[in-house]
Amino acid sequence: MLARIESTAQFIKENTGFDPEVGIILGTGLGGLVNEIDIKHELQYEKIPNFPVSTVEGHSGRLIFGYLGGKKVVAMQGRFHYYEGYDMKEVTFPVRVLKYLGVKNLFVSNASGGVNPDFEIGDLMVIDDHLNFFPEHPLRGRNIKELGTRFPDMSDAYCESHIQKAFEIGKELGYKLQRGIYAGTSGPTFETPAEYKFFHIAGADAVGMSTVPEVIVARHMKLPVFAISIITDLGVPGKIVQVTHEEVQEVAAKAEEKMTAIMSKLIERI
Ligand code: HPA
Repeated sequence: MLARIESTAQFIKENTGFDPEVGIILGTGLGGLVNEIDIKHELQYEKIPNFPVSTVEGHSGRLIFGYLGGKKVVAMQGRFHYYEGYDMKEVTFPVRVLKYLGVKNLFVSNASGGVNPDFEIGDLMVIDDHLNFFPEHPLRGRNIKELGTRFPDMSDAYCESHIQKAFEIGKELGYKLQRGIYAGTSGPTFETPAEYKFFHIAGADAVGMSTVPEVIVARHMKLPVFAISIITDLGVPGKIVQVTHEEVQEVAAKAEEKMTAIMSKLIERI
């Protein structure tokens, strides 16, 4: 795997000549951040050796290189979900490559269902911890010590100083921000009422189908992480209604402006 990561990073360096310091995974709700980036290079995933190819509706696949908030960034437009059929090594491969391109911080977004009864649809939740409910662990198998330690610490998976800065920015912009625990699960089904209840009792504030594998792999490599989630629906007793991918996208689109503002200002300030 190490040789594949190195050769992919080498290919990207040769084809862009760009050395990004910040990595961004443009999950749901962060598509608009692309418009803020002063783009210098783009690479379609299918042109990148060893990269999986994104399949899910509403996610196109390319790496974008450019300037955002005075920083050199690489943004993944389109991520790889476990429910698409990729194994965890494939889901997290791009994060390995970002690290080998030289990024020093990783910024991630996603959409999730809120299970905290204080949450409302459209809220933004800064993720400060996670519960890993995926059936396969991204670090299962022989550990590659060049990447990180066999038993990585997870006591501060989400960088507290980034979280504090995000709240300062939220205050300045007059945005309400929630803070909480994200439970990552495989999907692709949304939860049954009993499952939402289970995740709430387990300690989660929101549940979604991504992010946790990428964060684990980033932390394996000691990459500081900031992650933020749009609450697109509620898994709260009395508020549970049918949910579709389209509705998730619609709510996310409405919250996109706020999410984009927070991310771009945060990147500027790190
Ligand atoms: N559950 C899981 N993933 C999600 C949800 C949800 O309710 N909403 C958006 N992504």
